[in-house]
Amino acid sequence: MVPLKYKYFGLEEYIDEETMFIHFSKHYVAYLNNLNKAVAGTPQAQMSIEELLRTLDMNNATLRNNAGGYFNHNMYFAGMSRSGGSPKGALAAAIDRDFGSFDNFKKAFAEAGAKRFGSGWAWLVVNNGKLQVVSTANQDNPLMPGLGVSGIPILAMDVWEHAYYLKYQNRRGDYINNFFNVIDWDVAEQLYQKAITPKP
Ligand SMILES: [Fe+2]
Repeated sequence: MVPLKYKYFGLEEYIDEETMFIHFSKHYVAYLNNLNKAVAGTPQAQMSIEELLRTLDMNNATLRNNAGGYFNHNMYFAGMSRSGGSPKGALAAAIDRDFGSFDNFKKAFAEAGAKRFGSGWAWLVVNNGKLQVVSTANQDNPLMPGLGVSGIPILAMDVWEHAYYLKYQNRRGDYINNFFNVIDWDVAEQLYQKAITPKP
């Protein structure tokens, strides 16, 4: 389990305490427990979560949902903080290069979340050195094979109703607009640097 780096009420103006409590301690923990159950006694128990996702049998629904749920929520919770603001450094330059401007990126990311029908995710990924916005359904993510989206995720936005319904009800767009206030761009920058660094 990756602990939260802020209190349940830490992002209160944008994501309320009760939502954060249920999201982390019930939904996230359930994915984690079910993932551990699903891999117990298999070679996958020894894999990193990234390796497990990249080599996943997509017909194994239990593992697909729970390994995805575990990885996706780790990135979501870690990618938020009170810092908000806008990206800096190399990531800021890459966003300008690949989207034209930070505002264009925000528009694309918000749209990816808003247009995802039902439950799913919006992602900022590094794909062959370029930044892209993509979206996946349910607990799928761009590391999984055969989805038609790929790349290394550096920012995740959960658009399942459980992420916002208590505070925002059906107003997913308001939740998405407020999500930009809680993005921890230092974390995204670190993941970006890791993603563009060639592996030895
Ligand atoms: Fe979630």
